[in-house]
Amino acid sequence: NKHTFVMIKPDGVERGDVGNIISRFENKGLELQNMKLMHISRDLAKKHYQEHKEKPFFNELIDYITSGPVIVMIWEGENAISAVRFLMGATDPQKAEPGSIRGDMALSITKNIVHGSDSEESAQREINLFFK
Ligand code: GTP
Ligand code: MG
Repeated sequence: NKHTFVMIKPDGVERGDVGNIISRFENKGLELQNMKLMHISRDLAKKHYQEHKEKPFFNELIDYITSGPVIVMIWEGENAISAVRFLMGATDPQKAEPGSIRGDMALSITKNIVHGSDSEESAQREINLFFK
């Protein structure tokens, strides 16, 4: 549990929040291992969010995540997965604590500006999906 996968979603990139988000992870003591800007295909987006394919919000989620370039990153550190999830805050920015990325910087559950892996298995799967 030393590595996790993070994505800055399209509105985070478009609004110019990349530096701010990266700073928060750096300030926490996490170390950036790899990073790239990419425009993800619908096919890759569907693979990334495969666990949600039966959900009512799936199409909206895929439309959003493919709507513009994203930043994908690998971060390393002690308990990196839970550290990143804690810094991100709750999925719904309306419920995320002030001080968290979503609590401070987002308004909508769809446009919640950042993704972080939720388990060791998904971290491994997502790193392979985006960096291999
Ligand atoms: P990710 O880091 O993006 O995976 O978010 P998460 O792990 O906090 O939440 P989850 O994996 O459960 O959901 C994936 C994404 O689907 C979320 O980031 C939301 O954008 C979206 N989502 C989740 N639940 C809902 C919902 O109830 N309604 C809508 N409209 N979108 C949702
Ligand atoms: Mg998730």
